[in-house]
Amino acid sequence: MNLEKVAFIGLGVMGYPMAGHVSNAGYSTKVYNRTESKGREWESQYKGEYCHTPKLASEEADVVAICVGNDDDVRSVVYGENGVLAGMQAGSVMIDHTTTSAELAEELAAACAEKGIHFIDAPVSGGQAGAQNGALTVMCGGEHDIFEAVSPLLDSYAKQATLLGGHGQGQRCKMVNQICIAGVLKGLSEAIVLAQKSKLDIEQVVGVLKHGAAGSWQMENRAVTMSQDKFDFGFAIDWMRKDLGICLDEAKKHNLDMPLTKEVDREYQALQERGLGRMDTSVLIKIKD
Ligand SMILES: NC(=O)c1ccc[n+]([C@@H]2O[C@H](COP(=O)([O-])OP(=O)(O)OC[C@H]3O[C@@H](n4cnc5c(N)ncnc54)[C@H](OP(=O)(O)O)[C@@H]3O)[C@@H](O)[C@H]2O)c1
Repeated sequence: MNLEKVAFIGLGVMGYPMAGHVSNAGYSTKVYNRTESKGREWESQYKGEYCHTPKLASEEADVVAICVGNDDDVRSVVYGENGVLAGMQAGSVMIDHTTTSAELAEELAAACAEKGIHFIDAPVSGGQAGAQNGALTVMCGGEHDIFEAVSPLLDSYAKQATLLGGHGQGQRCKMVNQICIAGVLKGLSEAIVLAQKSKLDIEQVVGVLKHGAAGSWQMENRAVTMSQDKFDFGFAIDWMRKDLGICLDEAKKHNLDMPLTKEVDREYQALQERGLGRMDTSVLIKIKD
């Protein structure tokens, strides 16, 4: 397949820099964003064209990448007379980077197949910094040959992109990722409170522990800011609750009870009710305040 023309739909915290990497890598890039001002800002910063609808952005694209909010947001840019599917040509590839349910991935794969279009579900991990630095981890579900064909594009914003199986398996791997994060943050929250009460220097503690068995991305990137009460950045609770809802729904299908994930989800709900929904997930440490 040709891999020259790329459309990027959704220029949020993640999509804006990802689309920027696509343009910087030399692909002919068209972008769409619901709020036009962000699209115009992107256009002024990178080589590429802002289009007024997802359809217009997608019409000549070899690949259409999407990164919006949740399942329904994806549906709203994909379907309908101005949607991505109305513009895409047979033989092209749709890649969805949004974190969604696995059902949506299967639904989109089927809708694409009806038009001879290929689909890859490809949620990402690595946060805003990972997107800005072109260092995301991408978890993919789809056909092997199509994944191989689009890998050079994924490499423009990823440090690692891996095919985990058929449609939906990328999203299921992302669920595993989010469950791990919930547990790590719960442990880290309790540990930091004890460290503070014990008058330990948190930076020193992190410097020591990060090399041992307790080391984690959350510890290296969040422990110090947690101890400083800094939460107005990063990955919002609102997004995490969406993700944990998806995880818990998937668990139900396997008759799995996930008490820790449920507890963290309840605590995030309580923090949302306190108006902290846009704060980074590390604000979990404040649950007892
Ligand atoms: N932020 C992170 O650290 C992170 C990390 C990993 C994965 N993710 C996942 O990546 C996805 C995007 O996250 P983000 O942080 O980039 O979100 P964001 O900053 O809130 O951006 C969301 C984007 O989706 C667009 N959008 C939302 N609803 C839409 C709709 N109904 N129709 C059309 N466009 C719509 C928004 O357009 P407007 O500009 O018009 O609002 C915006 O471009 C989410 O699924 C999130 O869970 C995020």
